[in-house]
Amino acid sequence: MAIFIYSEEEIKRVEDACRITAAVLDEIGKHVVEGISTFELDRIARDLIKKFKAIPAFLGYKGYPAAICTSVNEVVVHGIPSKGQILKKGDIVGIDIGVRYNGYFGDAAKTFIVGKVSNNVKKLLEVTREALERGILQCKDGNHLSDISHAVESHVVQYGFQPVHEFVGHGVGRNLHEEPSIPNFGKPGKGPVIKTGMIFAIEPMINEGTYQVEILQDGWTAVTKDRKLSAHFEHTVAVVDGNPKILTHN
Ligand code: MF3
Ligand code: CO
Repeated sequence: MAIFIYSEEEIKRVEDACRITAAVLDEIGKHVVEGISTFELDRIARDLIKKFKAIPAFLGYKGYPAAICTSVNEVVVHGIPSKGQILKKGDIVGIDIGVRYNGYFGDAAKTFIVGKVSNNVKKLLEVTREALERGILQCKDGNHLSDISHAVESHVVQYGFQPVHEFVGHGVGRNLHEEPSIPNFGKPGKGPVIKTGMIFAIEPMINEGTYQVEILQDGWTAVTKDRKLSAHFEHTVAVVDGNPKILTHN
């Protein structure tokens, strides 16, 4: 298997899916408030995706039971929405959503704050967002894939944070997950050369403490080994005319 090169026409279609992805994510973000359950957030997501005549890409993927992942506090990724999980002040919630539209996929995530959090927590979110931006800037013709990885890691370690090793970004477009895998750590200048027409889901998952994670009994929920916080931001990005173009913007 190789990395797909998408035509401009196909990138437009992926962009359509990504526009819906971003719109739904933003709308869910408005509902991330004290007292709401993560189950309710999933219900809102399902309704919105349906309204856009799109399909939730995560639902049923390898048996995943919801349309979004809701990863609260020490949950790194793949938190499953549930009725019993009520958001409270001071929580941080990673919302990850994938959408299929006209046969093409968009994938995006953001970590939201419930009420107020400490400056340390704000810093974790800010640095993770910046790491995503830095990774995106590396999506240029002639760079190597691991330049993305290195940009993410080198940014976050300056603040004492650690990138998760076990989960990675990925190609996306005709499928939710395609080649290549895009780790959030590594030396620069390695791996395949980045070319116009490639589409990547770049998704730094950054821990306050150790990079190590554990998977809970449900087989999905990934938590930090030390139960410290984790943040996650993700965009779908195409290389267009040699340069990065974020597709999951509205
Ligand atoms: N954005 C994550 C990923 O690309 C979410 C996948 S959740 C799953 O891996 F349910 F679809 F597995
Ligand atoms: Co993804």
